[in-house]
Amino acid sequence: AEDGYDLWLRYHTLPAAQVDAYRAHATQLIAPSSSPTQQVTRQELQRGLDGLLGRTTPLADAVTSDGAIVVGTAASSPLIARLRLDTKNLGHDGYLIRSTKVDGHAVTIVVGNDDVGALYGAFRVLRLVQTMQPLDHVDVREAPKLQLRVLDHWDNLNGHVERGYAGNSLWNWQKLPDWLDPRYTDYARANASIGINGTVLNNVNAQAAILTPLYLEKVKALAGVLRPYGIRVYLSVKFSAPIEIGGLKTADPLDPQVQRWWREKADEIYQLVPDFGGFLVKANSEGQPGPQDYHRTHADGANMLADALAPHGGVVMWRAFVYSQDNTDDRAKQAYTEFKPLDGKFRANVLLQVKNGPIDFQPREPFNPLFGAMPKTPLMMEFQVTKEYLGFATHLVYLGPLFEEVLAADTMAQGKGSTVAKVIDGQLDHHALTGIAGVANIGADRDWSGSDFNQANWYAFGRLAWNPVASSRDIANDWARMTFTNDEAFVKPVVDMMMLSREAVVDYMTPLGLHHLMGHGHHYGPEPWDASGPRADWTPVYYHRADHDGIGFDRSSTGSNAVAQYAPAVAAQFNDASRTPDAFLLWFHHLPWTYRMPSGQSLWDALVQHYTRGVDDVAQMRATWARLDGHIDAQRYRKAATFLAVQQNEAQWWRDASIVYFQSLNGLPLPAGYQPPA
Ligand code: GCU
Repeated sequence: AEDGYDLWLRYHTLPAAQVDAYRAHATQLIAPSSSPTQQVTRQELQRGLDGLLGRTTPLADAVTSDGAIVVGTAASSPLIARLRLDTKNLGHDGYLIRSTKVDGHAVTIVVGNDDVGALYGAFRVLRLVQTMQPLDHVDVREAPKLQLRVLDHWDNLNGHVERGYAGNSLWNWQKLPDWLDPRYTDYARANASIGINGTVLNNVNAQAAILTPLYLEKVKALAGVLRPYGIRVYLSVKFSAPIEIGGLKTADPLDPQVQRWWREKADEIYQLVPDFGGFLVKANSEGQPGPQDYHRTHADGANMLADALAPHGGVVMWRAFVYSQDNTDDRAKQAYTEFKPLDGKFRANVLLQVKNGPIDFQPREPFNPLFGAMPKTPLMMEFQVTKEYLGFATHLVYLGPLFEEVLAADTMAQGKGSTVAKVIDGQLDHHALTGIAGVANIGADRDWSGSDFNQANWYAFGRLAWNPVASSRDIANDWARMTFTNDEAFVKPVVDMMMLSREAVVDYMTPLGLHHLMGHGHHYGPEPWDASGPRADWTPVYYHRADHDGIGFDRSSTGSNAVAQYAPAVAAQFNDASRTPDAFLLWFHHLPWTYRMPSGQSLWDALVQHYTRGVDDVAQMRATWARLDGHIDAQRYRKAATFLAVQQNEAQWWRDASIVYFQSLNGLPLPAGYQPPA
């Protein structure tokens, strides 16, 4: 059934007109199978080629015909060893795919330095076939630009997924470790196909119980399923675990007993999971315990855990998402304020995991000022793949352009071209340890992500983790072909629709740099009027600051001066309303409703126009989809059509609610041509 379960690994037979050409390039499959990774590589190629080509590809030990596919490493394949290829710059995970001759026959070779590189290469070959790229003269050489490419699951041990919109957790803790749901293997396949090599199994709002022997046995079982696919397991840990499950009186990171407890815990974990990745930590944020409870710094806390993991090769991913309960300063400033002074104070196996923007995964935020500001610390990007603030499961929002925009943003930390991508890939400050994390949108729903189009966000995250300067449009193009069809008449409009969708959601929810206007708690619909949150910085009025005269958060030098956290050239630009891009105008400035935009319009008129454009764009997306009925299966077509109808209604709801509310403050008429809400 076309229920989306296959994701982009949908190996349906190519159209009859093309299939022969591809069969000629897969007459034999020569792939070793002595290690678990080699076995799954071979299995995937068989499964993929058999499906795509509609016939069985024969396995062989030697090349005896043109069109063989030869896979492996110099160590696993004597055939490949003989070719003496230059694979030095491929690293552990890279691969080479090339058309060449072996024993007088034309073949395609797929080569890595390590088994996992060959596995990634195999997935790439399948992608070439699946997207119908020519196989006559292939010459692909790829290595990932980031070392740790990790999904963060915000999954609780009771099966609930925090900010998850795709059903319950995939991990069935109750049935583990004995029952290994085959779905875990499909999860691993999907991740390996896009180069993801790490998974944090549990929520950053962690439960100490995950570190008890009972759960560690389950973790070990999951690690065993993921290992052949090159995926390491990590755990979120609760800083107070030594108290909660260790019977200690304190979790003070400078207490020798606490240090010993963590060292022994790390030893215990590595006994069970020798390739365990390490710990992810949310500390002293939103009520979580942390080193500051003992008047110690984040560095004291991170280093203690790092010391426990270091003998085993593990890392600490310490989160920079902090803001205190009693914050009187601008919330957007707190991460920088707390962490910038700690640059240079962390152990070598600590990465600081920084959310893309300074607030919290909004439809649009400027880049987090920590990027570029901590040259002595490896900074890891944290994106959110699950759409907490972007319409949950039903709104069609392709996040590729959001990720791309952040990665391409110029921090100017070392002059022009100091992009966020170059900060996190280690180029700018010469870090060898690099990484990126995405908060997963994966659950137990048949379609994994709550909608078929949300799968594209998982896919795009993986592809950009591999190559942070890749084009989100190219990625969407691959995804649409693999997930649905190669039919140009479908692919082109769908990719255009996906590329439009991110700007649409910004426009109908929070245009011109507005942010956090969602109802507090659930973060779904519009509640710009809400002033009742349990804390000021959880309520929309804190962020938009609208009144009779104007709107926006003054973060310039006349306000919170958050702009000063950026490099001087960027700070100067953001400090000046006339030089601030429209997209961030009300993020950095509080302006009168009558403020003249570069377009000549008043701010109020421009705001109404953006809101309206957002609704119009969704209408256009829906119309596009309506024209595509019949190009794909009815089941997935109808689901997306229904969700687009929901989205259109709710875009209208966002627009109307926002405009009516702001109008109730400023009393201004709607600009000509904009109908008041019915
Ligand atoms: C957001 C989100 C929380 C989450 C937090 C975090 O605030 O709403 O559910 O725990 O981010 O990233 O730690």
